[in-house]
Amino acid sequence: MSAAEVPAGSAAGLMDRIYRHQRHIYDASRKFYLLGRDQLIDGLQPPKGGSVLEIGCGTGRNLIRIAQRYPDCACYGLDVSSAMLATAQGSVVKAGLEQRIGLAQADATGFDPQELFGRAGFDRIVISYALSMIPPWQDVVAEALRRLNSGGSLHIVDFGDQAGLPAPFKAMLLRWLALFHVTPREDLPEIVHATAEAAGADCRIGAPYRGYAVHAVATRRPDPA
Ligand SMILES: C[S@@+](CC[C@H](N)C(=O)[O-])C[C@H]1O[C@@H](n2cnc3c(N)ncnc32)[C@H](O)[C@@H]1O
Repeated sequence: MSAAEVPAGSAAGLMDRIYRHQRHIYDASRKFYLLGRDQLIDGLQPPKGGSVLEIGCGTGRNLIRIAQRYPDCACYGLDVSSAMLATAQGSVVKAGLEQRIGLAQADATGFDPQELFGRAGFDRIVISYALSMIPPWQDVVAEALRRLNSGGSLHIVDFGDQAGLPAPFKAMLLRWLALFHVTPREDLPEIVHATAEAAGADCRIGAPYRGYAVHAVATRRPDPA
């Protein structure tokens, strides 16, 4: 979708506006506060020849690391912002990974992976600091769980409840994040847990960096043989 075709008030339009300029300094600036992304990547451990999808892949920073770390897996990314995807595509080509990483524009609240990538499901799905920007984020968690292969896992990292950090720090962080339309989901652990349970998945949830971040892994139980 070209910038001229993006409907005003849509998620795509809003994200394109937020990231039109930010995307050029995104990777350099966000490394200081999008904490826990590399730990999530370490924990992915996809099966040999497996597939990994990142929902809300932004500049492709995580996908490039995933492709480099797990050289035999096929990687895919979707994002609603064509501006972010343009930056991601440039970075993927620069890293020489265009044969290993497929990118597509889609809204995370409802997407057809068969149409986008020619696959019905994935062995690993990553959602990194995107749920805090998507108002119907609960739908995205449910949609991601639906798109897991049997035995596959969903890995989420995002802002946590800041419970172990001083209250003034939390207040300042929330004000600053609001400028970028970011809202930490304080009930993320409960919602992910309940949604995973309903989808037949087992869930582990941690609160690293004294609750600055939340890290959830939901693993779909293998289908009966
Ligand atoms: C804070 S960035 C995170 C990017 C990347 N995951 C990372 O960890 O660096 C959030 C991303 O989510 C995307 N996004 C927001 N709403 C979305 C939606 N409804 N569907 C798909 N992507 C969305 C934004 O365009 C942006 O690229």
